[in-house]
Amino acid sequence: MIPSGIPPRVYTARQAVQLAKSALVGTRFQTGLAVRSVAGLRFGACSACQAQRLFSTTPAAQLRDIFPAKDTPHIKTTKPAWPHQGYTMDEMLAVTPAHRKPQGFTDWAAWKFVRIARFWMDIATGVGREQQVDKRNPTTAVVASKPLTEAQWLVRFVFLESIAGVPGMVGGMLRHLNSLRRMKRDNGWIETLLEESFNERMHLLTFMKMCEPGWFMKTVLIGAQGVFFNALFVAYLLSPRIVHRFVGYLEEEAVHTYTRVLHEIDGGHLPRWTDPKFTVPDIAVQYWDMPEGHRTMKDLILYIRADEACHRGVNHTLGNLDQKEDPNPFVSEFKDRETPKPALKGTGYERAEVI
Ligand SMILES: [Fe+2]
Ligand SMILES: [Fe+2]
Repeated sequence: MIPSGIPPRVYTARQAVQLAKSALVGTRFQTGLAVRSVAGLRFGACSACQAQRLFSTTPAAQLRDIFPAKDTPHIKTTKPAWPHQGYTMDEMLAVTPAHRKPQGFTDWAAWKFVRIARFWMDIATGVGREQQVDKRNPTTAVVASKPLTEAQWLVRFVFLESIAGVPGMVGGMLRHLNSLRRMKRDNGWIETLLEESFNERMHLLTFMKMCEPGWFMKTVLIGAQGVFFNALFVAYLLSPRIVHRFVGYLEEEAVHTYTRVLHEIDGGHLPRWTDPKFTVPDIAVQYWDMPEGHRTMKDLILYIRADEACHRGVNHTLGNLDQKEDPNPFVSEFKDRETPKPALKGTGYERAEVI
């Protein structure tokens, strides 16, 4: 149990996760303690279920809705710019972790870059050796001898989703400017890329309703975005193909992450999220149009994982195409077949299959 006199200071990453972990284990439904993780996350309750205080060691008085809907005299509601296309339960359950074997040096470099990023992510979130999966199959194996805690998962979700929303915006923006500058058609790539970044932002906003980042986490996110945006901006100008491959590998990690969460939820290792009183945030219910009776954390993760599987298939496929001439197959109507479904094609479509 955490001593009640913890000063509001910054701890090391591992200490933060340990603190959050012990808070979750030792202070079941207890209020009156303010715990800040090193990663800067204050683990607040889901705004939709603050009354139940399922995931919080923060006093109720300190919990707040980070981005409440603005109440105006005339506007009733503001719908998302890109309504979600929706999935059937069968489609969501059919998603599996996958890995595209690197073909050539640039693929290998993109893959290694993602692996190095994940290595540092594990360190930053205090993931011990026993919490890691089989290193020979890091994006497909989901069994580890020790599960992650809800707190560790939320730190990863918030950080990864804040980063994942950047590439689509950079790619879409640069292709948009390229089309204006060269007075040429884009052939349908821009909207898919912008929609991807929008979708990632909805993932982030959903998780932000479950925990509140402190100043340390916010500072890290600002710094990370500054570096990541500029690096991607330059990289996309130099080689959009490599960037799409890199994003494909990043999304392999995302599908792996959410598959592992599902595995641990099914195994009963994340009791806060399987508690019948836990409800997902309203923003998620509205965006994915989650039906009544299917609004558990597991349902939410199934939707998000299917989104990540789409990004994975789309980006691996775009990485196989002629960046200047080929149309985007995922918004095209075909002469002799159905429009391809990226979520179920973990390694992406080869060019000959879709062009
Ligand atoms: Fe995401
Ligand atoms: Fe994604």
